[in-house]
Amino acid sequence: MPGRMLIAMLVIAFLKSASCQNTSYQQDPGWRAPAGAAARANPLASRPEAVAGGEKLFRRNCVECHGENGAGIAKKNSADLRLSIVQQQSDGTLFWKITNGNADRGMPSFSRLPELQRWQLVLYLRKLKAVPDARP
Ligand code: HEC
Repeated sequence: MPGRMLIAMLVIAFLKSASCQNTSYQQDPGWRAPAGAAARANPLASRPEAVAGGEKLFRRNCVECHGENGAGIAKKNSADLRLSIVQQQSDGTLFWKITNGNADRGMPSFSRLPELQRWQLVLYLRKLKAVPDARP
């Protein structure tokens, strides 16, 4: 069925062009996890197999804004989650940011997801391919 193939390829090409990455992402300096929250360790750190569930959760809840590869979408001002300014933060900080969101800047709160699922997401974020930070 070459017709279907062609349509599939066009759809993929369209999706790729629509989800341009956001490597120029600037962090909100006012969005900071309290010290206690930042110091929390990931309870799943010794269970690397939990990352598969994290990937599923990411696909279901996050790709609409952060893109398939976590690169962010410029139009939505969403974070490129692969940048070192994001990755250099502690697991506890990422967990806190996912939990609380930053509503003013478009990141929803995911406190409705069970805690362990949020920690699974943190595990998955660590698997995103690193990219260098954008230069000003
Ligand atoms: C409706 C769009 C939207 C959805 C859905 C969304 N995000 Fe975000 N996210 C954002 C935006 C916008 C920002 C940047 C907020 C800012 O500028 O402070 C952000 C920022 C973040 C950050 C912080 C980056 C930093 O600067 O440290 C993390 C971590 C994050 N998102 C993870 C997730 C995860 C995990 C999910 C899915 C559970 C998710 N996001 C779903 C829009 C979204």
